[in-house]
Amino acid sequence: MLLSSERSGSTLLRVMLGEHSRIAAPQELFLMRYPTFDAWRAEKAEAFESLVELFFLLGQPRTEAAIDAACRGRSSAEVYDWICAQLPSGGLLLDKTPAYANDMATLLRSAALEPFYIWLIRHPLGVVDSHVRLKRAEQRRQARPLRALRPVRDALARLTNGMTAVARERETKWVRQNTNLRTFLRRVPETQHAIVHFEDLVRTPRRALGELCAHIGLRFEPAVLQPQTRQLMNPHLGDPNFHLHAGIDATPAERWRAAYDESVLRDETLQLMTQIGVRSPRLAPTAASADDPAGMALGA
Ligand code: A3P
Repeated sequence: MLLSSERSGSTLLRVMLGEHSRIAAPQELFLMRYPTFDAWRAEKAEAFESLVELFFLLGQPRTEAAIDAACRGRSSAEVYDWICAQLPSGGLLLDKTPAYANDMATLLRSAALEPFYIWLIRHPLGVVDSHVRLKRAEQRRQARPLRALRPVRDALARLTNGMTAVARERETKWVRQNTNLRTFLRRVPETQHAIVHFEDLVRTPRRALGELCAHIGLRFEPAVLQPQTRQLMNPHLGDPNFHLHAGIDATPAERWRAAYDESVLRDETLQLMTQIGVRSPRLAPTAASADDPAGMALGA
């Protein structure tokens, strides 16, 4: 299970791992958020596409009707068991859905299945910057705000050092989601989870994926370093801009520095960054994170 805040590079990591011969990695499933298949079908209809895609990836295409017939009336845990029974011998399902980090109930529900958890962490200002740019692009597409209002918006951004209401909300969400993940993963045995930092993933992908595969107990396969953009990309089930990258691009690791400075972050954000091993020249490492540069300092 791949857990993260949205805009942390989760689509990239999903697609990379999906290139591994033992991993099936469809778009965001959202299934764990719901106690039953029927509730998921009723409330998150668009995510059904991910389940259909999964069967294509497994080489056993199924119609919506066939999947519905097999899963109707089952709890989501039963559906995961059923999916896992369809995987080839030694096969693994990667369920990447950032929304799982929103509430503890979802995380606790997942524990019954004893999955391996990957916690993907990106610098909060990387997430904020990515989110703000995405929102602006959406507004431009919808011709909002009115051109005349743009100077006001830009002046506001300057006055707040970039931390407009939208940016601040995203910072708050980053803290909430990563606090949930930290709290939850502290109770999970070390052999059952790993941390990946987005900045390492894009700067030193061979090392990051080598370590991750070893942690999961998988042989490293070079194909994971060649994420393909041919896969299905529904903008509601992953990064809408994934196809714009040619290969693994290190630029997004530091792009936020052009627009923000860490001094704009709240104290609680800076504190959490220290606790979960987000690297930053401004923050002194905690004893735990200094001992463990891979950022596994969950008990701080
Ligand atoms: P930016 O908007 O800062 O570029 P998620 O999939 O969790 O929503 O994360 C989206 C972020 O992952 C985006 O950040 C995007 O650029 C980055 N990303 C996607 N594909 C990438 C690639 N091939 N190389 C580097 N970063 C990538």
